[in-house]
Amino acid sequence: MARTTGIDFHPAKHIDFKPPSKIYSMSDILLKKSPISDFAVSEPFQLFTPEAIACMREEIFKPEVMNNFQYSSNLAQCQLRGYAAKAAPFLYDTWKHPETLAIISKIAGIDLVPEMDFEIAHINLSSNPGAQKGEDLAAIRDRQLFEEDEGIAGCPWEDDKPIVDWHTDAYPFGRYIEHQALRAFGSTERITSVTSFRPKQASFPDDTVLTTVRPISDLSELYLQFSEYRLQMLEERIRQQLHLLRDTERGHRKFDTVAMKGFLSEQEVFLCHMNKQLVPDQFVKKGEIDDSHLFSDFSSSSKKRRLAEA
Ligand SMILES: [Fe+2]
Repeated sequence: MARTTGIDFHPAKHIDFKPPSKIYSMSDILLKKSPISDFAVSEPFQLFTPEAIACMREEIFKPEVMNNFQYSSNLAQCQLRGYAAKAAPFLYDTWKHPETLAIISKIAGIDLVPEMDFEIAHINLSSNPGAQKGEDLAAIRDRQLFEEDEGIAGCPWEDDKPIVDWHTDAYPFGRYIEHQALRAFGSTERITSVTSFRPKQASFPDDTVLTTVRPISDLSELYLQFSEYRLQMLEERIRQQLHLLRDTERGHRKFDTVAMKGFLSEQEVFLCHMNKQLVPDQFVKKGEIDDSHLFSDFSSSSKKRRLAEA
């Protein structure tokens, strides 16, 4: 692969968007609409050029990233998280760029921004079935180097376990659909890069839950970034409410008690939800995600539990 380190993201050079053939709503897949959108999922589509993908690959395989940002849990053996802002400028700029966000927002039908910096370009890696936990990245890197040298595709790596087991996501987009990340059949590897989004507008509800990400994060960074954007939302909401109040005063209109009480109740719920997400550090166990976030009957763990309870 060509050396790409140091290349800056330029949309004209790195975006090659081919719109999805179909976008599915929540009702299309027989699920309830989420509080913010009826968008469910789209058919796969191309967004970046091969050169952009090469730059991204190069960044995630840097020793600095592989050695310092690796996480594993009972749901997934090998993930890279929280590295983009610190060690992957190309990936970071890609997902922060207004042109990228405009495309994603158009497909989702709502203006979106990345959930928080920590969640930019989360990586799931498929593993060699023979490898122990923690050896996955080295195995993939060695395999990649070998194949580059040889110019061949090697044997499939898949075993019968998914890369990420049944789960719902933490963030407003994807959060209401239980899913797995499956292995790629007949290929040597599967690397998925996931960037989570939330609505840009502060007045929209934000139902982010941190259940599935606390155990696979630098807790201090996760809590800091979560608190920061939520308080910014609150700041913006209060500013908008103050504008309304001042307009009421200037227009000599009557104070709207019902509206103000509604606003206050909404913010009480917002703050209560936020406080609940900040589970004290000593109760968060690294790598251990329970299945309390699952609410459908699809998962094998739910099935096992029901059988055990029956
Ligand atoms: Fe997911």
